[in-house]
Amino acid sequence: MMKPMPEMNHATHELIRKRWSPRAFSSQPVEKETILTLFEAARWAASCMNEQPWRFLYATKNESEQYQRLFHCLSQSNQVWCITAPVLVMTFVRVNFERNNQPNRWAFHDLGLAVGNLTTQASALNLYVHNMAGFSLEKARASFNIPSDFEPVTMIALGYLGDPEQLPEELKTREIAQQQRKPLDELFINYS
Ligand SMILES: Cc1cc2nc3c(=O)[nH]c(=O)nc-3n(C[C@H](O)[C@H](O)[C@H](O)COP(=O)(O)O)c2cc1C
Repeated sequence: MMKPMPEMNHATHELIRKRWSPRAFSSQPVEKETILTLFEAARWAASCMNEQPWRFLYATKNESEQYQRLFHCLSQSNQVWCITAPVLVMTFVRVNFERNNQPNRWAFHDLGLAVGNLTTQASALNLYVHNMAGFSLEKARASFNIPSDFEPVTMIALGYLGDPEQLPEELKTREIAQQQRKPLDELFINYS
């Protein structure tokens, strides 16, 4: 069974409509050139003062030492399904501006824009991205030599779609469930 397309009130671009966060990935590896294309898309995102505060650390499954170090940082509930992900990424932001070392309160925003670009490029290449907050910052700092002005933000599993049947039962149900969102009206606020 396939994931149904989201029910939208206004037709959006197919690359947006087809995006969702899978847990079952195919064993098909992602070519180096394809991975670099995803990060190239991230690179061209807008950022406050063109600071480009985003950084990425990634490994493919065949770079097993680095992959294992990343995998080890994930929470157990994410490890359960990430086991099939051919690529793991850790994202970071530089929390202070390079120009004056003042706090950059837009760094997380700009990382989000970069990951958004990466995600849309992934959609165009038939790849799928699953963002994760569930990983240990302590393990990340212990496993990698992360400079103190960089903060780990998320981890990302990415790859081609796999068969939901490979997942444990409760995850299988979620894998094919219809995506849910707040109604569009709720996005608009009125402070007056
Ligand atoms: C910053 C962030 C952190 C997330 N953390 C996790 C996570 O640790 N584990 C997980 O399974 N999904 C995680 N997700 C995925 C969300 O649950 C998912 O995007 C949301 O339910 C909407 O589903 P959809 O992306 O399929 O539309 C995260 C998403 C984001 C953007």
